[in-house]
Amino acid sequence: MNAAEKIDIITKSSNLRELDDVRVALLGKNGELTQALKGLGQATPEERKTRGKELNMLKVQLEEAIAERKEALLAAEEAGKLAEEKIDVSLPSYPQVKGSLHPITQVMEEMERIFAGMGFGVRTGPLVEDDYHNFTALNIPPSHPARQMHDTFYVSSGDDAGDEDTQYVLRTHTSPVQVRTMQSEEPPIRIIAPGSTFRCDSDLTHTPMFHQVEGLVIDKGIHMGHLKGCVSEFLRAFFGMEDLPIRFRPSFFPFTEPSAEVDIGCKRSRESITIGAGGDWLEVMGCGMVHPNVLRECKLDPDEWQGFAFGMGVERLAMLKYNIPDLRTFFESDVRWLKHYGF
Ligand code: PHE
Repeated sequence: MNAAEKIDIITKSSNLRELDDVRVALLGKNGELTQALKGLGQATPEERKTRGKELNMLKVQLEEAIAERKEALLAAEEAGKLAEEKIDVSLPSYPQVKGSLHPITQVMEEMERIFAGMGFGVRTGPLVEDDYHNFTALNIPPSHPARQMHDTFYVSSGDDAGDEDTQYVLRTHTSPVQVRTMQSEEPPIRIIAPGSTFRCDSDLTHTPMFHQVEGLVIDKGIHMGHLKGCVSEFLRAFFGMEDLPIRFRPSFFPFTEPSAEVDIGCKRSRESITIGAGGDWLEVMGCGMVHPNVLRECKLDPDEWQGFAFGMGVERLAMLKYNIPDLRTFFESDVRWLKHYGF
């Protein structure tokens, strides 16, 4: 077989497999050309020189022809695939299990919707918070007993943290977002801050990670009446109950003064809790007038600006609204559970 014939076989190979067979037959370990090159060992020096040159030239030619053919075959294969694999967009897809947003997300979005209707914007803050924003700026100085109450997760500041003295924590509440907002925005302020919070606590009614929605209003002439009106309107909208009984019970938070806890009326039986009238009360949030120390820390003059704040647990409210008895099921990722509660 002469060179032209060999090249002809290469260019006529009709697929990659055939081409590879040709390559092996010519250039493989026992291929025709490889053998011929090996055979040069027995030739005379003169022959070796001329024949060797010829064979090596042929080898290069064949290799080039193979590479060229390979490229052409690959391109043709690709084009064939493209033509073949048409997607029929009118074809119905396989029946798929439809996912849904987590109930916590849904409830937070519902809360956002209600507050948006009352003119509130949404703000967020970091989950790994510094000591200053989580405690100090909220009128909770280092030795304050409230720090123990919070069962804080402390975070090692690591090597590359900017300030060695800064202690980092997983935020124990969403209240640091109050501080961040007051320090970065001009009043009037009317915001809510939904998000995850963390406390080193785990039992039937506590998970180490949970969610809160914080609220903050700063304006001129704000008083307790505004707080009560706003919170009541929210709760009645959330539970869809115009006549939901609500009471404000005096309480204490370092960052509000006066402070209150908000209870809603319910009827408790052994199996469940029914929201509405019934003579029992259930605590659903903390609130109060922003403490003058907090305002001052945020460079706001308490004689000029006043405000109120509130904070509520999202899981607690979701459990009440949807009659979910066990907090921990929220974080078990069981699709059957989602279905059961209709989410
Ligand atoms: N941050 C408080 C808590 O987690 C709740 C709260 C928020 C109370 C705002 C008053 C004002 O318990």
